[in-house]
Amino acid sequence: MTRAHLSRRSFLTLAGTAAATVAAASVWTRSRHARHGAGTHAAAEGAWRSSGGVLELDLVAEDTTVAIPGGPPRALTYNGLLPGPVLEVHPGDAVRLRLRNRLDQPTNLHYHGLHIPPGGTADNVFLSVDPGASQTYAFTLPADHPAGTFYYHPHRHGTVADQVFGGLGGVLIVRGALDHIPEVAAAREQVLFLKDLPAGGGTAGVMGMGMGMGGMMLGREGPVLTVNGKVNPELSVPAGGLLRLRIVNGSNARFWRLALEDHPLHLIASDGGALEAPVELQELLLAPGERAEVLVQANRSAGRYRLLNLPYARVRGGMGMGMRGGMGMGMGRGPGAGPGPGAGRGQQSQETIATLTYAGSVAPLPLPRRLLPVQPLPEPVRTRRFELNHGMAPGQGLVFLINGRPYDHHRTDTRVRLGDTEDWEVMNTGVMDHPFHVHINPFQVISRNGTPEPYRAWKDVVLVRPGETVRIRTRFADFAGRTVYHCHIFDHEELGMMGNLEIDA
Ligand code: C2O
Ligand code: CU
Ligand code: CU
Repeated sequence: MTRAHLSRRSFLTLAGTAAATVAAASVWTRSRHARHGAGTHAAAEGAWRSSGGVLELDLVAEDTTVAIPGGPPRALTYNGLLPGPVLEVHPGDAVRLRLRNRLDQPTNLHYHGLHIPPGGTADNVFLSVDPGASQTYAFTLPADHPAGTFYYHPHRHGTVADQVFGGLGGVLIVRGALDHIPEVAAAREQVLFLKDLPAGGGTAGVMGMGMGMGGMMLGREGPVLTVNGKVNPELSVPAGGLLRLRIVNGSNARFWRLALEDHPLHLIASDGGALEAPVELQELLLAPGERAEVLVQANRSAGRYRLLNLPYARVRGGMGMGMRGGMGMGMGRGPGAGPGPGAGRGQQSQETIATLTYAGSVAPLPLPRRLLPVQPLPEPVRTRRFELNHGMAPGQGLVFLINGRPYDHHRTDTRVRLGDTEDWEVMNTGVMDHPFHVHINPFQVISRNGTPEPYRAWKDVVLVRPGETVRIRTRFADFAGRTVYHCHIFDHEELGMMGNLEIDA
């Protein structure tokens, strides 16, 4: 079947259902692929899995209708799906993704968190794919790549915030050692892709929806909270069993502060893969771009438990209020878009985002005691400082700055040597939270305002709050080339909070 044989209407009707994955598959995938459905032990539900060491897939970015109660009638999607298809690979796999741009603006793809080359057709965020054009991304995952939950999304400077806010993004799973730990393998696995959308009105993210300058400055949020593109979906776990949640914050600016009624969350993996041992949490805060894997033990009485998103304020002091009043804060000027609750500076009240039920039962499963080693990095050869703040630019209003400068495509801000280990001291002297993200190489957080981190983990996004200095340590391993670091609130990135990093061979 070719795409022409499937009418637009029938395609759109299928979109958002499991059937759509199948339809999209037969339409767009050419050769080697395999889809593994629900219940397949070693694959995420509905995931596109590599087979024979190859993952090959077409990803079509376009503006499509979506069916989200209270949400926008249209959104930006990959293959008609919001979120995009789950991709699943193994270390050593060859990946070949053809991005086809059916949007009316340039786009591209970034493989957030993957340790792959920053140039060529790998994780090259400087590629730009024009409307109507295609780009094939081809790379091989290193044979020793850590297992974990990663995130693909557009990264074309100038359009990335609109496109992520508009719906684009998806989960990329690398399956490996973590998945072979018996207690982890015994758990039921569930991906949770978290995304907020504007209320009904137009296409999410397209001019007019939440585009007020105040919204841009603070970072646009939508009032409709979705999990895997659904409002308050049902999750289930057998009594006595374990549920493994792979959680991705795919929002443009919203922070998600999660708590599950009556159940602690046992953190087993951070952005870059496994921790050394589970860490028990009562709640989990994820800034944009951050991921976490947690285990939930179904050891309460059978019932229904709400997964809550708790209030979080990511703008300090009077600034948010001042902007809200003085600069037309709200969900923008689009048709039907009024000032939404929680717009801009963070959610004010708790909301149920999913509901967990116990269904069936199994013999009680234990939590793992140990996970995988997280090797400490050697002492750094140097320490650099990065100051995050904002300022006013004539005629432009608020700009976001790293070390006093807004992003310049042509400038090299930071030049490092391949193989070196460095400490970066990232300090926030402004009034808004900034999640700082570095491409290609993960880092370990060493300390926060001088206080050592309680446990070692591989991260690629770290929240730096106003007044904080966070020391991270990273090694520029394996791949030379040019890449970026930036604030992962994409509106801040677009307004300047990004730098170019050159890794010299
Ligand atoms: Cu997920 Cu440069 O970003
Ligand atoms: Cu990234
Ligand atoms: Cu920021």
